[in-house]
Amino acid sequence: MKLVLASKNGKKLKEMNEILSQLGIEVCSEAEAGVDVEVEETGTTFEENSLLKAKAVMEASGMPAIADDSGLCVDALNGAPGVYSARYGGPELDDNGRYRLLLENMRGQTPRTAKFVSVITCCFPNGDVLTARGECPGTIAFAPMGEGGFGYDPVFVIPTLKKTFAQLTAEEKNAISHRGKALEAFQEKLKEYLKTM
Ligand code: IMP
Repeated sequence: MKLVLASKNGKKLKEMNEILSQLGIEVCSEAEAGVDVEVEETGTTFEENSLLKAKAVMEASGMPAIADDSGLCVDALNGAPGVYSARYGGPELDDNGRYRLLLENMRGQTPRTAKFVSVITCCFPNGDVLTARGECPGTIAFAPMGEGGFGYDPVFVIPTLKKTFAQLTAEEKNAISHRGKALEAFQEKLKEYLKTM
């Protein structure tokens, strides 16, 4: 089965394929499916935005489409940046600028606990929708560490490993990450769904 990923993020595409290829599922980019969809993320929850993205790309491509809406929720910042993680600090900031702003906003703040959240939605052309959620708890570092991953990875610490997401290999991150957990739950739902077809 082939799914289109409703995202322009090549690293998300790679992570999705690493996990879903074990099920014999191929995830392709919007470009490979011949679509280029700009979705305004007007929702206030990960669930709403994930559905908006998957539905728009399914409608444009005519293929089953999968979307991940994810973000970092920091307790001391009342859940910010949350659904606004990709836009934190405005459009002029890149990944580096966004995690530096987060460190700045966390100066002197306690607790430093946070969680990454991922909501996966898959929309099928017949109107069926599958959704799965995954969360990964951690803490916010005092300074960036590691070179791997993307986004806020250099400042998100897994306390039991004493490492940031950016210091883990792709396999280590996928095994514990919010997206890994959401995709695992999604795989189970997809297996059940495929049996009914
Ligand atoms: P989305 O593409 O609208 O879901 O935006 C998610 C944003 O959350 C990304 O741009 C990153 O800033 C952040 N994010 C989500 N997942 C991760 C992750 O695994 N590592 C680091 N940052 C992430």
